[in-house]
Amino acid sequence: MTFPAMPTGRILSGDAYPLTPNPHPATDSERAALMADPVFGKVFTDHMARATWSGGMWSDRGVMPLEPIPMHPGAAVLHYAQQVFEGLKAYRHPDGSLQLFRPAMNAERMIDSALRLAMPPLPVDDFLAAVAALVQADAQWVPQQEGGSLYLRPYLMATETSLLVQPSDTYEFVVTASPVGAYMGGGGGVSIWVSRGFHRANEGGTGDAKTGGNYAASMLPQQLAKENGCSQVLFLDAKEDRYVEELGGMNLMVVFGDGSVATPRLTGTILPGITRDSVMTLLADAGRPVRERDIELEEIREGVASGAIAEVFACGTAAVVTPIGELKSDDFALTVGDGEAGPVATWVKKELTDIQYGRAEDPYGWMVRVA
Ligand SMILES: Cc1ncc(COP(=O)(O)O)c(C=O)c1O
Repeated sequence: MTFPAMPTGRILSGDAYPLTPNPHPATDSERAALMADPVFGKVFTDHMARATWSGGMWSDRGVMPLEPIPMHPGAAVLHYAQQVFEGLKAYRHPDGSLQLFRPAMNAERMIDSALRLAMPPLPVDDFLAAVAALVQADAQWVPQQEGGSLYLRPYLMATETSLLVQPSDTYEFVVTASPVGAYMGGGGGVSIWVSRGFHRANEGGTGDAKTGGNYAASMLPQQLAKENGCSQVLFLDAKEDRYVEELGGMNLMVVFGDGSVATPRLTGTILPGITRDSVMTLLADAGRPVRERDIELEEIREGVASGAIAEVFACGTAAVVTPIGELKSDDFALTVGDGEAGPVATWVKKELTDIQYGRAEDPYGWMVRVA
């Protein structure tokens, strides 16, 4: 496909978030050094977007220099973790435009998360304007290199000074931006630790909300995974310790030898991933509908051992599509297939990233241009 010389199409407005430029932005050479090989989430751009909830309304919207946020030591978020967040990416397309991937889904999921945490939801248009304005302000920070993107981290937090366990009456909405490369190195399969006994979410809890507490619960199992030579944790259901749910930051897909694909159904304890939804759409449209169902760990163990399961892979915004080469726990260690990326994971990763990076047409209208 050929690209027009100049970007065309509607550009998402960031006007609702006026810019106060950073008077001391990184110099070109400083920025180049920071962007050469950024560790995920360690490098931040010159600006941040903010809005405040007070008196029952959102106000003080803007994009401003990135700076520390002063907070009273008694701020509610520091004690009871009343907080929700999102993660999405901006991509640089061959025509020079900057594009977000399905940002309205992040906005909608943040509304669902906020409602679960008894927080005031930020309207979808407001969310979109904030991320657009920030990418526009920090356009030079969107990487050029293969696999690079600008990771956006919108979040809402409770700021009322109060130790009472009750919803705050003030909140801050903040968006930061970080240039990132590929989240997990290499094209081969990663090793995954199956967490027994430690869970991230319970029925009726906050598992399907993107809130910090879920990730706090995953830290110890994540540490155990590292100690056992694994890069990520796979969680089982909390009730029976029997069904696979998701990884610490990704959803799970299982590819069977007959070509069919299954993924754990959304039970309320699993995050409804936007990549999960996109992968399911791509596979379904290629004649490979993904079944959402309960998947027992035992089924995976037996299937991997017998060869009935050909591939297992994970998917999420940060890590895109990550083939799983090995599954381990206290009492077993299994190599999936030949331990390398399988054809279905490889195919779906290419389809998805070709759309995200503008290398292929976007028949779904997933990309939203911001610059
Ligand atoms: C727990 C968890 N599951 C799944 C995902 C994947 O979701 P998405 O594809 O929307 O990034 C994430 C990342 O956001 C996550 O943190």
